[in-house]
Amino acid sequence: MDIPVIDLAPYLEIAGRLSGDPAELSGQLGASLTELCREVSRVLRETGALVVKDPRCSAEDNDRFIDMMEKYFEQPEEFKRLQERPNLHYQVGVTPEGVEVPRSLIDKEMQEALLAMPAELKPAVPKGPDPKWRYMWRIGPRPQNTRFKELNSEPVIPEGFPEWKDTMDSWGYKMISAIEVVAEMAAIGFGLPRDAFTSLMAQGPHLLAPTGSDLSRYGQEGTVFAGYHYDLNFLTIHGKSRFPGLYIWLRNGQKVEVKVPVGCLLIQTGKQIEWLTAGDCMAGMHEVVVTKRTVDAIELASSQNRSLWRVSSTLFAHIASDAVLKPLGHFSSSPLAEKYPSMAAGEFVEQELAVINLKGSKSKA
Ligand SMILES: [Fe+2]
Repeated sequence: MDIPVIDLAPYLEIAGRLSGDPAELSGQLGASLTELCREVSRVLRETGALVVKDPRCSAEDNDRFIDMMEKYFEQPEEFKRLQERPNLHYQVGVTPEGVEVPRSLIDKEMQEALLAMPAELKPAVPKGPDPKWRYMWRIGPRPQNTRFKELNSEPVIPEGFPEWKDTMDSWGYKMISAIEVVAEMAAIGFGLPRDAFTSLMAQGPHLLAPTGSDLSRYGQEGTVFAGYHYDLNFLTIHGKSRFPGLYIWLRNGQKVEVKVPVGCLLIQTGKQIEWLTAGDCMAGMHEVVVTKRTVDAIELASSQNRSLWRVSSTLFAHIASDAVLKPLGHFSSSPLAEKYPSMAAGEFVEQELAVINLKGSKSKA
C-alpha cells in the first residue's frame, strides 16, 4: 500500500499570515486547506504514519546527511567506541549494536497481544538485542528550569568530521520544522487549536538519532534490525532510507511495507500523541527487517560500489518534559480518556523507559 503524499507547500505559504483567533481560522484557511488538515489527521489516525513533501527539506539535504553517516558508521569499531558514553546512558554519542532491546522481547502485555495475532500479520521474532548502531544528537534548546534535567553532557563530535555539527544541526532543524507544520495541520484536523501540539513541543528533548545497520554482515533475509515496537515520543520523522525494510501496522491491523518517494519524509505517531488524543490517534507499531527487496537493494548497491550501511535519519520529536500529557480539548470527554491520566511528559518517558530497562536514557523510542 502506498501512503498518500501530503504536500506541505500550500499550508506553508499562508502559515505566517494565520491569526491566533480560532474563530477566524477556517475562513483564513479556506475549504481546500481545511480539507487537507483533515486529511493529515485522518491518515495519522488510520495508519499511524504520514508521508510528506516539505519544500524546505530537499533530497540533496537528506543525501548529504546520509553520506556523512555512512562514512561514520563505516569507521572501524575502535574508532566509533571513542564516541560511546555508557556512563551517560548513551544519551549522547554512539550506541553500539547489541545494546537496544526491542520491546516485544521484554513487554509481557505486548507478547500476549502478539500471540493473538493471525500468522500473516505477525511481526518477525527478534532473537536478541537489535544489531544496529545509533548516534544521538540533541536538537533545539532545553529549558533553564526543569524537573527533568537531562544529564549535563556535552555533544560528542567524532574526530575527522569537520562538517559534523553543521550537517547534524541543519538536517535536524529542518526535520523539526516539518514536524511542527504537520503538528499544526493535525491539530486543526483533529478540531483542536492550531498550536495545541506545537506549544507543548517547545523546548522538548528532541533527538536526532540516526541508526546504522551493517548489511554486509547482517544482510540475510529475515534479519530483524528493529524489533516490533512503538515510539514513546510525540512524532518521529525520517528522510528516505537507501534500503527498504520498514513495516508498519495500520489501525485495522493490516501490516504494510512503507515506500517513501524520493525527496519525501516519513512521519510516525508515537505514544505521546496517543495520550493527547485519548487514543483517537494510536502510536504506530513498526519493525525494520531485511526483506527480499532489501536483498535486491544490497545487490544493486554492491554492484555500484556503494555503502552497505543502512542509515535511517530518525528524529524523535518530544513533548516538553515539564508539559502535562493529558487528553486535549474535546478528547478529554472521550470514553477512553480515563486510560490516559494527566502526568508530566518527563515522568511518562521515565515510566516507559523503566519497562524496557533503559531508565536514565531520555531517548530510545
Ligand atoms: Fe521506532
